[in-house]
Amino acid sequence: MKIKEIKENKKQFLPLLLLADEQEDMIDRYLNRGTMYVLDDGGVKSECVVTDEGGGVLEIKNISTEPEYQGKGYGKVLIDFVAAKYKGRYSILQVGTGDSPLTIPFYEKCGFIRSYSIKNFFIDNYDHPIYEAGMQLIDMIMLQRKL
Ligand SMILES: CC(C)(COP(=O)(O)OP(=O)(O)OC[C@H]1O[C@@H](n2cnc3c(N)ncnc32)[C@H](O)[C@@H]1OP(=O)(O)O)[C@@H](O)C(=O)NCCC(=O)NCCS
Repeated sequence: MKIKEIKENKKQFLPLLLLADEQEDMIDRYLNRGTMYVLDDGGVKSECVVTDEGGGVLEIKNISTEPEYQGKGYGKVLIDFVAAKYKGRYSILQVGTGDSPLTIPFYEKCGFIRSYSIKNFFIDNYDHPIYEAGMQLIDMIMLQRKL
C-alpha cells in the first residue's frame, strides 16, 4: 500500500472527488490550493484533499473511497497518514460534513469530535438540494481532531 501526493491533473480523480462532493464547481473552490493524496493498493482506492485554513488549522475538504472498497480501512489509513504528516505543523485537523449517518460515525471512529456547525451551508452554497441516506443536508457539521 502506498500513499502519494498528486501535484498535477488532480481532476483525473474527478469520479472519486464527486463521490464526496457532488457539485464540481464546489470542488473547484479548493482543489487548486489543496494538497491531494491518493492511496494506492493494487490501484487507487481512496483520495483526500487538505487545505491550510490559517491559524494552525488543516482541513480535509474531500475524502472518498471507491464504493466497492469502502469499509476496509482505507479511509482511516488516509486520515491517520495526514494526521501523522502534519503533526507539529498544525494544531487542529478539521473536516466539515452534512449531518449524515454515512459520514459522521466514520469521522468519530477516526478520532474527530463535533465542534461547531455552519447554518444552512448546503442550502446557501449548492445549486440543488443534497440528499444523503434519504435526508436533505442543511447545516455543515464541523468536526475536529487535535494534532
Ligand atoms: C466516508 C468514507 C470516506 C469512509 O471511507 P472508508 O474507506 O469506507 O472507511 P474505513 O473503512 O476506513 O472506516 C473506518 C472506520 O469507520 C467505520 N465507518 C465507516 N463508515 C461508517 C458508517 N457509515 N457508519 C458507521 N461506521 C462507519 C468503519 O466501520 C471503520 O470502523 P473500524 O475501524 O471499527 O473498523 C467512504 O464511505 C466514502 O467514500 N463515502 C462516500 C464519499 C463521502 O461521503 N465522503 C465524505 C464526504 S464528507
